[in-house]
Amino acid sequence: MTIFSTERLIIRPWTTEDADDFFRIYGDPDVTVWLNAEPKSSPVECRDTIKILIERGETMDRYGYWAMELGETRRAIGSLILKRLPNVERFEIGWHLAQDCWGNGFATEAAQAGLAYGFTNWNLDCIEAITLPHNLRSRAVMERLGMTFQGFTNEFHNLELALYSIERSSLPRSRANP
Ligand SMILES: CC(C)(COP(=O)(O)OP(=O)(O)OC[C@H]1O[C@@H](n2cnc3c(N)ncnc32)[C@H](O)[C@@H]1OP(=O)(O)O)[C@@H](O)C(=O)NCCC(=O)NCCS
Repeated sequence: MTIFSTERLIIRPWTTEDADDFFRIYGDPDVTVWLNAEPKSSPVECRDTIKILIERGETMDRYGYWAMELGETRRAIGSLILKRLPNVERFEIGWHLAQDCWGNGFATEAAQAGLAYGFTNWNLDCIEAITLPHNLRSRAVMERLGMTFQGFTNEFHNLELALYSIERSSLPRSRANP
């Protein structure tokens, strides 16, 4: 089931068949250090996590923790996230990529379409993004997307995080403001 696609990527739910690809992302400490999480220890552990993501996707309203599949190879190279921020009625967008796929514009490409999807299909007025202040690669994605830096916040995950946001009205009419 495709949620949406871009020039190079298919955005779709994770499946348990992706456990090896999932492990290549979330078993890598250079990725998980930015998520304030421990790396996964095996594809088997990843299967269990994927099952949780599938269940949330099926039972929760407007919950997206999707695979970014590279059209050319069919490999799942990352996650695109569109979901509520913890404990508030506000939505965040996020991205995780396997390290060997950094530097190709995949996160920006997926997130650009993800913003349009949230504004049009979920009727959101504003989408936010949070990251550790020194995660300059992630902040660069936020800047490329045209998101505005709102300052630092301690509101989420008991951490100081940089907060960015973008309003629906700031996107071109054809993409999100028919
Ligand atoms: C954050 C993360 C997704 C950013 O990945 P990234 O590859 O730097 O970001 P993009 O996919 O948008 O790619 C941008 C880079 O690709 C380059 N690029 C190459 N081809 C491109 C294209 N066709 N279009 C756009 N950019 C392109 C850009 O110049 C840029 O390179 P630079 O880093 O040298 O400036 C990645 O570092 C990651 O997964 N980190 C670990 C998890 C994480 O921190 N997630 C965020 C938590 S808040």
